[in-house]
Amino acid sequence: MRPKLPAKEPGTPNGRIFRMSCTVVLGSQWGDEGKGKIVDSFAGQFDIVARYQGAHNAGHTVWIGGEKTVLHLIPSGILRQRYCVLGNGMVISPLAFNLELAMLAKKGIPTRETVAVSNRAHLIAPWHARLEEARATKIGTTGRGVGPAYADKADRIGIRAGDILQPDFGKIVNASLRETNRELMERGHGTVLSNIADQFMDEAENMAPFVCDTGELLRSALRKNCELLAESAQGTMLDIDHGTYPFVTSSNTTAGGACTGLGISTFSISHVVGICKAYVTRVGGGKLPTEMEETAGDKVVEAGQEFGASTGRRRRPGWLDLFQLKYAVEINGIQTLVMTKADVLGGLFKTIPLCAGYRYGGKLLDEYPSKHSVLEQVEPVYTEHAGWPEFGDCREYKDLPQAFRNYVRKVEDYLQVQVKVVSTGPGREQTIVRRDAHVAGLTWMDDLDLNRESAA
Ligand code: IMP
Repeated sequence: MRPKLPAKEPGTPNGRIFRMSCTVVLGSQWGDEGKGKIVDSFAGQFDIVARYQGAHNAGHTVWIGGEKTVLHLIPSGILRQRYCVLGNGMVISPLAFNLELAMLAKKGIPTRETVAVSNRAHLIAPWHARLEEARATKIGTTGRGVGPAYADKADRIGIRAGDILQPDFGKIVNASLRETNRELMERGHGTVLSNIADQFMDEAENMAPFVCDTGELLRSALRKNCELLAESAQGTMLDIDHGTYPFVTSSNTTAGGACTGLGISTFSISHVVGICKAYVTRVGGGKLPTEMEETAGDKVVEAGQEFGASTGRRRRPGWLDLFQLKYAVEINGIQTLVMTKADVLGGLFKTIPLCAGYRYGGKLLDEYPSKHSVLEQVEPVYTEHAGWPEFGDCREYKDLPQAFRNYVRKVEDYLQVQVKVVSTGPGREQTIVRRDAHVAGLTWMDDLDLNRESAA
């Protein structure tokens, strides 16, 4: 089954194959930057929203009219009735997927005709979480079996969504279970019973109508001039290659992951939008160089409600880290920034430190350290910035406090990237698109209509 995409003019056979109509929206820090809300805000301008990596370790929260929706797998574009794709770069728990469909159905949001799952995406079986526990990788993972499912993929023993449609699906599942039980026994962690595999297969079979070749679907949609929004989960610093290894997730959260995780060409990417908070947070283990001391941190956690949307864990807050953000801008090719949670710091601090570099061994570093042991010893170099009062109910950028606008200017000067959108609260209406900031090649954002609801 494939979703019925809007009937658009096919592109010319040549050139149009490389039509650049994919915007990547990604987290530029350690995740939890507020991607769910921003993707929801942007989705009305696009035909398709596609997730390219990660699993239900992510939690994307969207508030609409006082009602909270947390999505873990399906892109938040579903709330605007967009066509939603779960790409091949994801690892998907059938149980989590079915629960999400049921949650959306309860809210009256249809999914049957609008959601597609890649036949190349891998499945998370219940025993992947058991393996995660047994392997005890002490980096503060979400415990959802994400690492072991990606490990099976790399080991070429994974279960793919396309396997659900095959007559030998049972055999593939049982082979995975046997391999798991062998390892669990070796580690002295008991075994997984075969009825768990039966339940898993039942859950997976419910997914079958959604499974198709989404790479082909997306490429043909791009040929037909459809606009695609590629959504990441987690953040740049949790990327398995470019993040703060080993304290990272198991996938490529960075912009390159959009091509490999969706099956589209690099030529298709027209724009990369980075989401950053006005400060940073990190959940789980690993160094956060600008981590706030306890009193300041507690204030931010309370004001910003910094608790994980998936696990409920307290997030660790830190001051905005421009040295880290520059790294994210360069790795991802971020052309535009969206700053979220700018309201949270309002009225909390007289001065706000901004990290402009790291000192290590008495010298300023030129490049972001690749070794965690180095990161553990860096000393952030701060510039002090005046704090700002609470935002109140501002709807225009020019009405936001001057000290905050100066903060934004400092960020832009340092990164040489414009902050085009500022989010001032969780609601859809609390999103300010700056009319005074023009970004080349990004006209749709100038005309951003946050109330555009219906499918084109
Ligand atoms: P995993 O993705 O469960 O393997 O966890 C690896 C690391 O990524 C841990 O530090 C998690 O806390 C972190 N992580 C995973 N998903 C998210 C997320 O959506 N937001 C923030 N951190 C995350």
